[in-house]
Amino acid sequence: MMQPKYDASLLFVCLGNICRSPVAEAVCRQYVTRMNLNIRCDSAGLHDYHKGALPDSRTLKNAALHQLDMSGIRSRKITVNDGNQWDYIIAMDHSVYEQLKTQFPAQAQPNVLYEFMAFNPQAQWLEVPDPYYGTAKDFELVYELCVSTMPWIVQKVKSAML
Ligand code: 4NP
Repeated sequence: MMQPKYDASLLFVCLGNICRSPVAEAVCRQYVTRMNLNIRCDSAGLHDYHKGALPDSRTLKNAALHQLDMSGIRSRKITVNDGNQWDYIIAMDHSVYEQLKTQFPAQAQPNVLYEFMAFNPQAQWLEVPDPYYGTAKDFELVYELCVSTMPWIVQKVKSAML
């Protein structure tokens, strides 16, 4: 089958690809669908500790509270090929961003690598905190930051498409 054409493509990256970036992916997909935009969304992790796994059970529980569809999302590690396949590679926190810059030095130059919270000038958070060793409220914060930041991200992507 032919690869469908997209107007833009976004890859969200965290450490394990089971807590934060899968929520960003799902929120992104929900938002671009609502906005009737043809934007590709995916997520990946720096590590393969959870390769092939569903999102964390606490992530799924919190998503269910908000009717966020996370079906079909499985953990995968970012690959060398990802470096050339995405218009935007968006790190969920600063240390992930720094590691991506080391891993993809060429992409650090032509505006491919970004920090998630840098898109949102109104947020009080500079990064999406890792909820893995946290509680339910930390998972809710991940969801809230993804929902409040996604319109800013899509706005920027749309303006670059014009
Ligand atoms: P994520 O959270 O990077 O948001 O998916 C984590 C998941 C797993 C681990 C750390 C963070 N871990 O150390 O296994």
